Formats: sequence, structure tokens, C-alpha cells
Amino acid sequence: MPSTESTQTYDLDAFVADLERVVATATTEREVTERVAERLRVLLTSGLQLPEETTTPLPDRYVMRPLYVAADGRFSIACAVWNVGQRTPVHGHETWGVVGIHSGVEHEVPYVKPTRPDEPLRSLPAHDWTPGEVTVCCTKDDDVHMVACGGDVPCIGIHVYGADIGTLSRRTYDPDTGAVSWFVSRWGG
Ligand SMILES: [Fe+2]
Repeated sequence: MPSTESTQTYDLDAFVADLERVVATATTEREVTERVAERLRVLLTSGLQLPEETTTPLPDRYVMRPLYVAADGRFSIACAVWNVGQRTPVHGHETWGVVGIHSGVEHEVPYVKPTRPDEPLRSLPAHDWTPGEVTVCCTKDDDVHMVACGGDVPCIGIHVYGADIGTLSRRTYDPDTGAVSWFVSRWGG
């Protein structure tokens, strides 16, 4: 379906306005993620400038900082930063998500979402995402992965989720046993 959203003078404010329209009119997670991904590709090719305070890595862990959180909590936009050597646990999202790479390489290992609580997780082929690339990282039925910095410079991604991801309760998994722990990632400083 051709996009009806604007592509001129595209910046974060225009992206937010388009996302408001997308989440208000899309009827399925497939539609919302396809339309968000199309807009995110445009944003990443429009010379998006991110404030330094959002892109500075932390020394001890990866961090997600808010670029925008919808007042009604229907979506959020995060700047996700991994320093060299940092990685997430295997985790889920409990909502849809679209990820675009601003700089660096994001190394992703997807897993089949388990249907039972006590079986090891099955990994799928890993992928290295590079600047300008956009991927649908999750829908509610397919949302489990591990992400790491994939290169020798920090990785910075723009992540869009169908909730306030900094306050949403979601799962981490022990991939060897399938054991689940619930967590809230919280917005980083
Ligand atoms: Fe994730």
C-alpha cells in the first residue's frame, strides 16, 4: 500500500505525528509495524540528529532513553545504546516493536517464542543490522530475542514500541531451561 504520509523536511516531530496517525488507524500489528517501519526508514535517511545525551553509552550496561512517549502510552520511541561488548539477556516485549539502526551494528539472535514454561528455547539464525536498516523486531506472538553490540564501536538504534517500553512489565528467559523472570527495563539516565 503506498504511503500517504509526508516525506518532506522529515524529522522526529514529523515522525511522531505520523506515528500518532498510524497507531490511530492501523487495525493489526502487521499493518502498524509495516507502516512504522516505512516511516522509520525515511527518518533514518533524513539526516536524523540525536542529542549527545541520548547516545552516550553507559560503562556497565546497555541503556534505553526516551525520545518520545505518547501521553496515552500507545507508543514510545527509544534511543537504545550498546557500548562495545554489551548485550541484553534473552527477553520479550509483550507488544509490537520496530527497530532501525542509526549507527554501529546491532547483533540480534531471535528465538522461537516458547509455548511451555519448562522447555529450552530454540534460537533462530542471527543477523547483524547495519545503519539505515529497519526490522520488525516483535509482535506479541513473536517477540523473543537477544541483542548485542555487533562491532567495535557503540551501537545506537531507534526503537519504536506499541507501549511505554520503559514501564512495561515483560519477560526475560533462561534459554537453557526456559525459566522466566519478569522485569521492567526502565528508562535509563
Ligand atoms: Fe528487544
